[in-house]
Amino acid sequence: MTVRPVSHPVITHKINMLRDAGTRPKDFRQIVTEVTSLLTYEATRDLELETTTIDGWQGRKMEVEMFLEEDPSIVPVFRAGIGMQEGFLSIIPSAKISYIGYYRDEDTLEPQLYYAKLAENVHLRRNYVLDPMLATGGTTSAVCSMLKKAGVKSIKVLCILAAPEGLARMKADHPDVEIIPAVVDDHLNEKGYIMPGLGDAGDRLFGTK
Ligand code: URA
Repeated sequence: MTVRPVSHPVITHKINMLRDAGTRPKDFRQIVTEVTSLLTYEATRDLELETTTIDGWQGRKMEVEMFLEEDPSIVPVFRAGIGMQEGFLSIIPSAKISYIGYYRDEDTLEPQLYYAKLAENVHLRRNYVLDPMLATGGTTSAVCSMLKKAGVKSIKVLCILAAPEGLARMKADHPDVEIIPAVVDDHLNEKGYIMPGLGDAGDRLFGTK
């Protein structure tokens, strides 16, 4: 598994604004959008261009390089992943959207699927899982397993913060999946929060408690 944290002062600055308890949901959402745009730029570096012909502005045909493959699919994981959707779409507006929702079973603590609506021909597309907090990695791993069951071959995970525990789980379960975190934090606390972290990303995005 490749882990490619995006080292950039703009990202460091924005992540530290997210860590600030005084950052209100409106600004928090905006910053998550901006960081996701930067992650998307990094995550799509390997998209392949193909040669095609266009009608140039001078009235002549021009050979140019463009994306011709199927549009990618983004997979925002309910609930907090929705906060990353706009940032990805600001870079690749033609992406299709596959929604997946899991809840955690109170007894087994295992993620249970409750919603999935995948893009058409999802197996032919590159898939970008949007999950802001890679904490234990349980849900992210389940999402990747579910996509693979649907025949998906290409998966990358974009997250705002990752914990070493979540990265280790993903390495064990899905060594073929690339993880692109903005920042790798220190550890998980006993309640499963990423430390130093930014709190509950869903609550901070949507103003809930
Ligand atoms: N999910 C969150 O929103 N925050 C954490 O710190 C861990 C998981």
